[in-house]
Amino acid sequence: MPLPVAAMDADKAGVVATADDRGLANRWYTDADAWDAERDALFARGWACLGHEGEVAAPGDVLPKDLMGLPLLLVRTKAGTVNVFHNVCRHRGMKLADKPCPGRGRIICPYHAWSYDLDGTLCATPHIGGEKVHEVAGFDRSRWGLLPVRSAVWFGLVFVNIDGAAPPFEQVIAPLARRWQAWSLDGFRLGGADCRWALEVRANWKLAVENYCEAYHLPMVHPGLNQYSRLGDHYNITHQGRAEGPEAWFAGQGTRVYNPARGDGECLAPLPDLPPALHRVGEYVALFPNALLGVHIDQAFAMVLEPQAPDRTVERVFLAYVGDAATDPAFAGARAANLRAWQDVFVEDVFAVEGMQAGRHSPAFDGGAFTPLMDAPTLVFHRWAQARLVAERIAGAG
Ligand code: FES
Ligand SMILES: [Fe+2]
Repeated sequence: MPLPVAAMDADKAGVVATADDRGLANRWYTDADAWDAERDALFARGWACLGHEGEVAAPGDVLPKDLMGLPLLLVRTKAGTVNVFHNVCRHRGMKLADKPCPGRGRIICPYHAWSYDLDGTLCATPHIGGEKVHEVAGFDRSRWGLLPVRSAVWFGLVFVNIDGAAPPFEQVIAPLARRWQAWSLDGFRLGGADCRWALEVRANWKLAVENYCEAYHLPMVHPGLNQYSRLGDHYNITHQGRAEGPEAWFAGQGTRVYNPARGDGECLAPLPDLPPALHRVGEYVALFPNALLGVHIDQAFAMVLEPQAPDRTVERVFLAYVGDAATDPAFAGARAANLRAWQDVFVEDVFAVEGMQAGRHSPAFDGGAFTPLMDAPTLVFHRWAQARLVAERIAGAG
């Protein structure tokens, strides 16, 4: 089996930034005018992350989601599959749900009470033919089910392709799935409330991606972390596909000195079959556009970025553990300690992304410098975004 170690070595000869490389212009971080164009080019045309399937854990759970202004519904059917629909009634366009609805048998519109099965079928149209007459000639219910959104679940995350025209998700994710094959991602499970966390930052979502891509800021921003996982212990991860190719682009960094998580002396359960060469490896990858992922021997996490406005982003964190370690009370102390440790790290990053957001209002900043080695993963993100904006023929994409 090809180990990611081979890929790690290849990264040494990976992307190197040059003095000619340019970043995205400030307006992509500050202007409301850029919002819709960016949503279409960077989120709707490909596969974007909508959330974690654990957010609709039980049959009948219905959860409204907002993807840069697009109202969507995440639904767990009675059979256990995850569906995504446009969150809009087919009758007069009412938004169907604006808060979590656990354990529903149907989705009922709050306006005229049309109701839909969890598979989207329109199954009741009360009084449509007059009082207490629920059917009417000339109206074929079967044509008016909820409109589905193409979706796929991987690593517990729900991905959506809004325009329906992207290559199959399996093809798109193949390079990262291959890289992380040794971590057998199906072995990780999301637990309950002690495995989830969310915070809001006053910054554009892209700055959260950029900050996640690089380890360069470790000594300044994470001095505690840098004591045992130093900058020199890290390596770049870059996967840059063809501009029009089907493969996902991703970039980030890895460490060779990960310490397994522990609380009060107890350790979390390790993956049983991870090759010894990877026991102390941790890899942190931004899967563009908006999923920030991490894998280790005993835990995996995802941070899903939910853009709220050009200068506001919700970061939703999901921690997953191996087998029973996700839910067993015996591991509660270790889970709590691990959650606190990540919260500390992620909070340390807030001033950095918010500071960069403030800096994007300066006309003196023109996309900045990408240093050859340290900023190479960040450059890959900019190349990815620029390629997609240019493909949409959006003026001033550079
Ligand atoms: S708008 Fe939904 S039932 Fe009329
Ligand atoms: Fe950081």
